Order: sequence, then C-alpha cells, then structure tokens
Amino acid sequence: MAIESVAGLAGTGLAGWSGTSTRTESTSAADYDYLRQLVMEHSRNVLDSSRDYLFETRLARLLRARGLTNIEELVQLLRLRRDSQLEHAVAEAMTINETSFFRDNRPFELLRTELLPKLIEARMRTRRLRFWSAACSTGQEAYSLAMLIREHFPMLSGWQLTIEGTDLSTDVVARAQSGRYPRIEINRGLPARHIVKYFDHAGEDWTVKPELQQMCRFRQANLCAPALPFTESFDVVMLRNVMLYFNQETRKRLLAQVHKLLPSDGILFLGSSEQPADLSLWHSTLAGGTSYYRPRQS
Ligand SMILES: C[S@@+](CC[C@H](N)C(=O)[O-])C[C@H]1O[C@@H](n2cnc3c(N)ncnc32)[C@H](O)[C@@H]1O
Repeated sequence: MAIESVAGLAGTGLAGWSGTSTRTESTSAADYDYLRQLVMEHSRNVLDSSRDYLFETRLARLLRARGLTNIEELVQLLRLRRDSQLEHAVAEAMTINETSFFRDNRPFELLRTELLPKLIEARMRTRRLRFWSAACSTGQEAYSLAMLIREHFPMLSGWQLTIEGTDLSTDVVARAQSGRYPRIEINRGLPARHIVKYFDHAGEDWTVKPELQQMCRFRQANLCAPALPFTESFDVVMLRNVMLYFNQETRKRLLAQVHKLLPSDGILFLGSSEQPADLSLWHSTLAGGTSYYRPRQS
C-alpha cells in the first residue's frame, strides 16, 4: 500500500533520495508504527513503512517548537496523554503539499474551451456557479480557477461565483488565505502577463490582487471526517492529487459523499493518476487529454 509518489516528494528535498535505510538509531519500529497509526487516524493518509525516514525531516520543526530533541521523546509524550492538538499537528506535518498554479493545465483548458461555456449556458437562469478546490494546499488551484474566470469569462461579472478551498492543514490554509507567494512559486505555471495582471509585488513575494482574493474562500476541513464540510451542491469539484494518499475504502467513501454534492451536469476532476474506485457512480469522459467525471443518477 505504498502511497507517496516520487512526484509527491518534490519540494521535500528527498525526491532524488534513493537510500534504503529507513530509521534512525534511537527511534524504534514501535514508535514509527505508533506515528503511522496516528496519522492514519487523523488524516486517513497511509504512510508506507519503507519511508519512515520522512518522519525525521517532516517533524523536525514541530520537535523544535515543542522543545523536544527526537521522535522518541515525541512518541513518549503522545503515549503519556492524548493531546488531539499535538496529534493533529503531527498528521498535518506529514502531509505532502505539493501544488502549483494551473497544475496539469489540461483540466483548466477543458474548462475554458468546453465545460464552462456549457455550464454557463445551463445556469443562465440562476446566474450562480460554485467551485470547490478540495485539498487545496496553499491555494494555487483555487486562484487558477479565479484567473481563468476573470480572463476568459467576463460575462460572469454580476453572477454569484463561489470558489471554496479546503485542506486538512491549517498551515497551508493560512498561506492560501494570505494569497502571498515567493517568486519561485509564482514562476511555476503562471504566464508572465498573469503575474503582472493578477499579482502585486512586495519585496521578494507576490500577493494575489484583492479582486481574485474576493472570489476565493479558504478553510480547514478534513475530507475524511464523518461528513463533508459542505451540504450545498457544487458545479465543479477539483479533488486532485489527494486520493493517492488514502486507502481504497477511504477513497470509496469520500467519492460517494462527493457524488451527493454534484448535480447531474456537475463535473469532478481527479489527479491525472487517480480514478474513481466505484465506476458505477460516475460517468467518465475522456477529452482534451484528460478525464472528467459526472455523477450517474441512480
Ligand atoms: C499533493 S497536495 C495537492 C494539492 C492540489 N489539490 C493539487 O493537486 O495541486 C495534497 C493536499 O491534500 C491535503 N490532505 C491530505 N489529507 C487530507 C485530508 N484527509 N483532508 C483534507 N486534505 C487532506 C494535504 O494537506 C495537501 O495539501
């Protein structure tokens, strides 16, 4: 049940790491088992034991902040007394937050050329469109949707547009809310004219202009909580590059819940290496070099 793709390791400094040693001297197998179980409980992320070495890197900041010297001490503390805040912080630190503006551009291009024009036509009466960037990480996906709309669909001004972004990690949600990005992130995937048009320059960083920020709302939410954070339906759900961290049962449950949030002409995008476990619920369409899914009606 290995779940971390090499792509998922980009940005961790470990993408090219090919060693087979997985543990430090002081941390026991039982400690790692305990941490993996804890992460599973809180985020449903399945961590492969062959990658136990990642705990050292990813938890280093948390250990420092808590005045702990190693993972053994952290596990001792956790075993001593249940502390849900600390447990959540551990699960959060173990998430992979890799993302970029217009990541895998094909879904955005398909939205531009085909899917959004049809949705707009279908929503002429309500003049309302709702998007959800589920597992939004630092917000680039949500802001990419906002830029796409601003750039290509001026007829939507005056419509009620909502772009919701949610993520398990409070840290990345705060960064999404700030709309502030270092140059290196801005340079990944954004055409130069978009940078000039939609960002303000402040020192080494770039901040999303208020007109885009106003279109997006971000909040912390666990996709594996008993209920999803929304009850109102969405027209487009982007649930990309997160299900690969879940087991089959979790994926199935999550997609059954997402199914209930989409009307018959609603659209679901998954990551390019992901697909619905239960195809009886989804009608799959291959277009523009990518796949999208519409809910089958029972
Ligand atoms: C690899 S990023 C993908 C970001 C974006 N969707 C994309 O495709 O670029 C995966 C994100 O999923 C989030 N995540 C992991 N488990 C989650 C859960 N149980 N509920 C909500 N978000 C979760 C992580 O915090 C991380 O930000």
